[in-house]
Amino acid sequence: MNWNELKFKYTKTNAIIVANYSDGEWSHLQVINDDKITINALSASLNYGLQAFEGLKAYRGYDDKIRLFRPIENASRLRRSAEFLGIPSPPESMFIEACKMAVQENIGYLPPYESGATLYLRPLLIGIGGQIDLVSSNDVLFIVAAIPVSSFAGDKKSSFNKALIARDHDRTAPMGSGAYKIGGNYSPSIVAGQKAKQQGYAALLYLDSQTRNHIDEFSSSNFFGIKGNNYITPDSPNILPSITNNSLMTIAKDMGMTVQKRAVLTEELATFDQMAACGTAIVVLNISEIHDPLTGTVYSSKSEGNSTNKKLHDTLTGIQTGVVYDKNNWCLEL
Ligand code: PLP
Ligand code: COI
Repeated sequence: MNWNELKFKYTKTNAIIVANYSDGEWSHLQVINDDKITINALSASLNYGLQAFEGLKAYRGYDDKIRLFRPIENASRLRRSAEFLGIPSPPESMFIEACKMAVQENIGYLPPYESGATLYLRPLLIGIGGQIDLVSSNDVLFIVAAIPVSSFAGDKKSSFNKALIARDHDRTAPMGSGAYKIGGNYSPSIVAGQKAKQQGYAALLYLDSQTRNHIDEFSSSNFFGIKGNNYITPDSPNILPSITNNSLMTIAKDMGMTVQKRAVLTEELATFDQMAACGTAIVVLNISEIHDPLTGTVYSSKSEGNSTNKKLHDTLTGIQTGVVYDKNNWCLEL
């Protein structure tokens, strides 16, 4: 494979891992050397969007070891999303085992250390039984796929990236499902995200839907800003609790920074030295400008460079690849 040419795109790999939940219990994990599955056309996932998913990565380290980053957190977030939808989710041990199997079965697709690419794991939980009534599904399929990917957004060669504030739709309702990783939160942002990308924006930034005065998060990543020695990230009931953001907050504290998780007013964007998007797929992406199409305001980061964002990025990826000591035991070695 030509690792340099990878993007965040689907490639069919060797196998997916699946398990079935029916009659109140999970089947064993199975390896399927195909990316097609057969489910009922009247399933709740196809008809009512009854599905939850996750995203995590396997990293080839400098020492050749393979590491998964905080997979237990993904297992528990999937459980939270599944509970929100009223569907069963795999126990933590089964989730981890499926992720390990997905890596092992697709080992030829695991990008080498320092290739700039990683193996993205996509755990998926879908309701598969036939139904037309609006009830939770008792028949569920758990899938883990593994896909080699490179950067999700932004220019690989430059740290200049701009983001666009979404002003013609909200990501989630005030008491909606924003804090869960379910497909229904993503489909409404796809067209707007594509348009923004065509206009040269690396990410679409959502405001809170109650007042539209505060920053919530990007369509597939959290927001943080750096002001002096402070790491500031929005506290909102409607954003996805990002495992990357949570890790960066710990790293920032270890770097001697003060972490503030609090409401961030849109106008405050004018005051940050540096800004970033963070998440599994995007890692830490420096955001130099945020454009508000409603007011025409361009919020630019005040500092010329991106040194703090880069330090946070490099420490995080250093831990993931075994270069930086993993003092919190975040990595699971395979
Ligand atoms: N916010 C949204 C809406 C996301 O889809 C993601 C990606 O998973 C994140 C934030 C970042 O979360 P994590 O760091 O756990 O990947
Ligand atoms: C991730 O970081 O795992 C994501 O959520 C990205 C995905 C929605 C494309």
